Amino acid sequence: MKPLSRVASGIKPSSTLRTSAMARSLRAAGEDVIDFGLGELDLPTPPGISAAGIKAIEDGFTKYTAAIGTEELRRAICGKLARDNGLSCEPCQIVVSNGAKHALSNTFAAILDPGDEVIISAPYWLSYPEMVRLCGGVPVIVPPDAAGGFRPNAEAIRRAVTDKTKAVVINSPSNPSGAVASRADLAAIADVAVQNDLYVVSDEIYEKLIYGADAVHVSIASLGGDMAERAVVINGVSKSHAMTGWRIGYSASSPEIARLIAAVQSHQTSAPNSIAQKAAAWALEHGGAAVLAIRDVFARRRGLICTLAADIPRLSFEAPSGAFYLFVDVSGLYGRAAGGGRLESAADVADALLGIAKVAVVPCGDFGCPDHIRITYAASEERIAEGMARIASFARGLGR
Ligand SMILES: Cc1ncc(COP(=O)(O)O)c(C=O)c1O
Repeated sequence: MKPLSRVASGIKPSSTLRTSAMARSLRAAGEDVIDFGLGELDLPTPPGISAAGIKAIEDGFTKYTAAIGTEELRRAICGKLARDNGLSCEPCQIVVSNGAKHALSNTFAAILDPGDEVIISAPYWLSYPEMVRLCGGVPVIVPPDAAGGFRPNAEAIRRAVTDKTKAVVINSPSNPSGAVASRADLAAIADVAVQNDLYVVSDEIYEKLIYGADAVHVSIASLGGDMAERAVVINGVSKSHAMTGWRIGYSASSPEIARLIAAVQSHQTSAPNSIAQKAAAWALEHGGAAVLAIRDVFARRRGLICTLAADIPRLSFEAPSGAFYLFVDVSGLYGRAAGGGRLESAADVADALLGIAKVAVVPCGDFGCPDHIRITYAASEERIAEGMARIASFARGLGR
């Protein structure tokens, strides 16, 4: 038979999904596995939002909507962007998609031609390079800046620019590091973008999960000059409103880019779910208190996990400023004996943690940091305490 697509064959399956599949099969075998691998809130969708979805069904709001989303939701998104981010958008600049992930892949399809380079700073969310490749683009990875707290570094980005560079991806707060870019970081990156005529894809999906007095979310699109035209802001309700399964995300961009994103989406998926759009519009208009309540739950969990992790020997981490991940350097465990072998990589550590301690974490090789693991603290305080106690006894029990 003829070979299948070279592009699709080159795509790596997601290692986060591999971890959860392994955790699931252990659980099916009767093991009490603590899953710190997922990138998903464990909280239910707030009741007012769910009620808006139920009402949409009862009202018969169950037909296709405009391919770019309802006018009602796109107006609600414009209101949110003005209120929270200081961005002035018209509904024609918004395309509502099936989650932020879909909005991102539409965006790459709209801006990339084969061979175009896209600069991505490590550590990065593992889907960006694959999405770029699916569009024929070339991901160019900037090495992690541990000394800078893993924030994106404008000078390193500048050094990665070539005459083929089309765009830079920014993700603040970051999955997996939890780092939050400062206004100064973003201003310096905006300068690089303007000087080299680059688009900036700014994934702001964790905007509402931000902790500590110093961390403030700034959208790079709000920094003036022509950044509002160069930047494509990606956001959604998945993480802010505990609505992962509803699948509503969006892009906000110049009308020219939005037209192309809309064209791509109109042929690939048409509009996102009509019921979820009603719920998302309600969430953006009335869900402010729920967002703050979710943030407070995660702020407490972050405090707890940082305290517990600080007591574990040979792990190194910084308290995350945003999102819900602890990004831990495990190279201090290398060379130690575990389960009949020696730990030589973060993947070995993750496998041994799952096999011995029955705790699922994600090794971050596919996120551009092969000595780190990602521990998701989207779990109850009891489960966090139990899971970290298991990791501590694993680390203390390793052989020489
Ligand atoms: C950085 C980042 N961007 C986008 C997404 C996708 O969000 P959505 O569920 O809205 O597609 C995720 C989900 O894990 C993420 O971590």
